[in-house]
Amino acid sequence: MNIYFDNSATTAPNPLVCDAVADAMSNVYGNPSSLHRMGKTAEDFMTDCRARVAKSIGATAEEIIFTSGGTESDNTAIIGYCTANKRKGNKIITSKVEHPAVLEAFKFLEHSGFEAVYLDVDENGRVDMDHLARELTDDTLLVSVMHVNNETGTIQPIEDIASAVHAVGAIFHVDAVQSYGKIKIDVKKLGADMITVSAHKAHGPKGVGALYIRKGVRISPIIHGGGQERGLRSSTENLPAIAGFAKAADIMTENFDKSVSAMCGVKNYLKDKLTSTLPNITVNTPEDSVCSVLNVSFTGIRSEVLLHVLEDKGIYVSSGSACSSHKKGRSHVLTAMGKRDNIIDSSLRFSFCGANTLEEASYAVDVLSEQVPILRRIMR
Ligand SMILES: Cc1ncc(COP(=O)(O)O)c(C=O)c1O
Repeated sequence: MNIYFDNSATTAPNPLVCDAVADAMSNVYGNPSSLHRMGKTAEDFMTDCRARVAKSIGATAEEIIFTSGGTESDNTAIIGYCTANKRKGNKIITSKVEHPAVLEAFKFLEHSGFEAVYLDVDENGRVDMDHLARELTDDTLLVSVMHVNNETGTIQPIEDIASAVHAVGAIFHVDAVQSYGKIKIDVKKLGADMITVSAHKAHGPKGVGALYIRKGVRISPIIHGGGQERGLRSSTENLPAIAGFAKAADIMTENFDKSVSAMCGVKNYLKDKLTSTLPNITVNTPEDSVCSVLNVSFTGIRSEVLLHVLEDKGIYVSSGSACSSHKKGRSHVLTAMGKRDNIIDSSLRFSFCGANTLEEASYAVDVLSEQVPILRRIMR
């Protein structure tokens, strides 16, 4: 039995997505920039894909550029905006719990002279709004806060942050990689000026993402070359991946309610059963978190040990976030939330998609109820 509870790391591509990728590869291989008929066919095809991806977040096609994924979209938004608008201010603000794609872009800008501020979060991982209010000054150029945290599933108060940021005339970027497909995104309601999404977290192909840039927001490219994507992201577009992304976006929109309800069911079942059957476990995910993530600490057992025991039983999970699991050091997210070392060192992330079932969750509970006491005895 294979139970995949690591959907925040990546998701299985939908078979219809695979078909769309293969079909585009075989049949729409012209370069969208070519002047002949095959180029025009590819360009029209890409225009249609762009409109479908845009629609999935309530944007228009003109507001979307395709990138190589969430990391590039975050870097383009943050570095691209700050480079193009240096004269408007020198302060940039983010939170301590962001994904490295944002934190490292901030560090890069810090090295080039920007003043970076990393906002505190509360015990649930939510941004400290008083800290934000204190730091928002006339000199603030850009604020970047993620919609949903990849390690804990914490949802940030994006609309409130947007109002505060805009009140001082700054620009607001949101990394929505983990909320896409789990929380309905409407760019107008959310109030962000730039939004990052990535296809592979929503059953699309890896290596393709999008950046929503509100009309009127000016950015400089970070990849220079032939001027594709309105000059904002050079390189021949990855049309097969874009076709897969558009298909994944269609499917996500069509199945949204069903999929969210399935994820909520699995998450709540797992949480309730684990907390009622196992002593000394801590749920690090807040009550009102996203449906797709459950972060739990099994005190006394190192995350990697339990991860591999579960793997032996056919259950796939993450210790902390997959993107940082090869790096040494404790989770910066749980640390910022004020969690003790023994809680951080024993934390596992279970993350779900609409295809997960209660039977899978029930099997995981059985395995954990059996293995956790054994491991605790051995490790004592
Ligand atoms: C919140 C968040 N932002 C950005 C990324 C990076 O996305 P990608 O893998 O498409 O570069 C991830 C990936 O885990 C993520 O969880």
